[in-house]
Amino acid sequence: MASYPSTRLRRLRQTDWTRRLVREHTLTPDDLIWTVIVSDRADPTEAVPSMPGVERLNVAKAAKSAVRARALGIPAIAIFPNIDPSLKDDQGSKADDPDGLVANCIKAMKDAAPEVGIICDVALDPFTNHGHDGILENGEILNDPTIERLIEQALMQAEAGCDVIAPSDMMDGRVGALRTALDEEGFESVLILSYAAKYASAFYGPYRDAIGSSTALQGDKKTYQMDPANTDEALREVALDIDEGADMVMVKPGMPYLDIVARVKAEFEMPTYAFQVSGEYAMIKAAEANGWIDGERAMMESLLAFKRAGADGILTYFAPWAAEILNG
Ligand code: PBG
Repeated sequence: MASYPSTRLRRLRQTDWTRRLVREHTLTPDDLIWTVIVSDRADPTEAVPSMPGVERLNVAKAAKSAVRARALGIPAIAIFPNIDPSLKDDQGSKADDPDGLVANCIKAMKDAAPEVGIICDVALDPFTNHGHDGILENGEILNDPTIERLIEQALMQAEAGCDVIAPSDMMDGRVGALRTALDEEGFESVLILSYAAKYASAFYGPYRDAIGSSTALQGDKKTYQMDPANTDEALREVALDIDEGADMVMVKPGMPYLDIVARVKAEFEMPTYAFQVSGEYAMIKAAEANGWIDGERAMMESLLAFKRAGADGILTYFAPWAAEILNG
């Protein structure tokens, strides 16, 4: 192997043009999925204190965000609902409400900017008064009965015009059950983006504030979300979801799990996404607000890191700001 002094790696770093010429990875607006919090009470926007810069949007504002995404070249938006507590119950009965917030947002957004993909979470937590993603009985989350409810939720979303169903619940077997149900109802073109390797993480804290499930959550989600100590298990989760019909797979959270992103991409060569979650966003914004880091540079560096690790795209609350910078 060539060595110093004939080899000097700094030669290629000395000017902007050489750095650009040898750059291995790039970030473009095409890589971004904008995560948007919607609310049935926002008036018309409402700040999320633990996520500076992020607002809960009402339906009309959500439609405007789709128009903004189109203008910025962001391919898709993922919506997450903050539901009025009076509409929550222990079964998550409103999760498949065809006249509810999610259905109304999907329709308004597809009307306003049909070219922008709409992605919806499939999980009961925004709708349950206990804050869990599934049906809770005697302290246990019931797998198969939860899947039945997820199917009803997903069919409502597809009916409203959702392009991508994204199960984030981590029940076993839900991807296959959703694929079968969607196909049976004539939604064979609706995509499935599986939260395949989703960890029981402290980094979801600000999100649970944003959707109003943090005060509600009883206990933790460790019986269905993955143990942060595991990597082989992530590959098994991803393999099952691909087998069951997932079109795209996701690793979540993002930056603390780049090793998982890299392994999943290398092993399966599937469209692979990483979710830069609420806590990751909050950390960068908090450090920026304190003057401890350059927030803009940290944002762009964190997003590029996902590409370097092998992600095809990133779900991120930073999407519109990053796209503005990328568009010059
Ligand atoms: C719920 C869901 C969560 C997130 C997306 N969907 C949180 C959780 O599992 O408790 C987290 C998003 C974020 O932190 O930005 N099924």
